[in-house]
Amino acid sequence: MTASFRRLVPAGGECDAREALAGWRDELLGDRQRPRGPRLALNMVASVDGRVAIGGRSAPLSGPPDRELFHELRAQADAVMAGAGTVRIERYGPIIRDAEVRERRRAAGLREQPLAVIASLSLDLQADLPLLADPDSHIVVLGPGTATLDGALATVSFIRCENFADGLAELQSHYDVGLVVCEGGPTLAAALARERVVDELFLALSPRLVGGAPGPTLLADTGEAMPQGLELRQLLGAGDALFARYVVG
Ligand SMILES: NC(=O)c1ccc[n+]([C@@H]2O[C@H](COP(=O)([O-])OP(=O)(O)OC[C@H]3O[C@@H](n4cnc5c(N)ncnc54)[C@H](OP(=O)(O)O)[C@@H]3O)[C@@H](O)[C@H]2O)c1
Repeated sequence: MTASFRRLVPAGGECDAREALAGWRDELLGDRQRPRGPRLALNMVASVDGRVAIGGRSAPLSGPPDRELFHELRAQADAVMAGAGTVRIERYGPIIRDAEVRERRRAAGLREQPLAVIASLSLDLQADLPLLADPDSHIVVLGPGTATLDGALATVSFIRCENFADGLAELQSHYDVGLVVCEGGPTLAAALARERVVDELFLALSPRLVGGAPGPTLLADTGEAMPQGLELRQLLGAGDALFARYVVG
């Protein structure tokens, strides 16, 4: 069943995930505020007390509406990026599984599958990860390391870079990537925020208090506090969950 969202900001009627994000890609790509690099939207889910995982996984925080927005963001991305920690724990597979969505992408002039970008320092990724074992996926490993990956059936390329601004600029120049959707986790999100390369934040607020031992929130350790203003562009509701789209100032 397709989830239904209430449009809270700007106020309006009910919509589905595709209607909620209609025109989003063009709007973000049309915003040429930043001097270089592709646009980057961070998409994460957090409990009301800021936790991003329960028992080491994000799935218990999610529900069908969250997953539908997640897949619609993927559908509009040139590249989907995640930290190696998340790729290992969540056992990432091919980015777009739905044949209709792949067809919609093809019709819109996009690659059938977005590039899968994995940020890694260690390059310690097992070839049996579903994403690496998929011959139709193209993975770009981004980070300062010099090692290679053996045994993957996917196409694997490397961007050897010391920082994300350079890595993202290379993604744009070598792979024609205009829009990156980053799915976390909190270590990668903190590194991107520290470098101020995040253009938008999609935050799904899961209607739960989680508590527990101290653990990462949306941004893991950023070193010094680095306040960044957010402008609320869109707010949706589904059941007790809220979905906010912020532009990062
Ligand atoms: N709620 C949510 O939306 C959400 C989203 C994603 C994940 N999560 C949860 O978050 C947890 C995993 O998060 P995490 O913080 O451990 O992992 P992460 O942010 O996904 O990945 C961290 C890894 O990114 C790589 N990395 C870090 N800084 C880098 C840099 N400057 N350049 C290149 N690569 C860099 C390193 O990979 P190497 O280890 O290979 O060196 C590092 O270990 C899991 O519990 C997951 O379920 C929640």
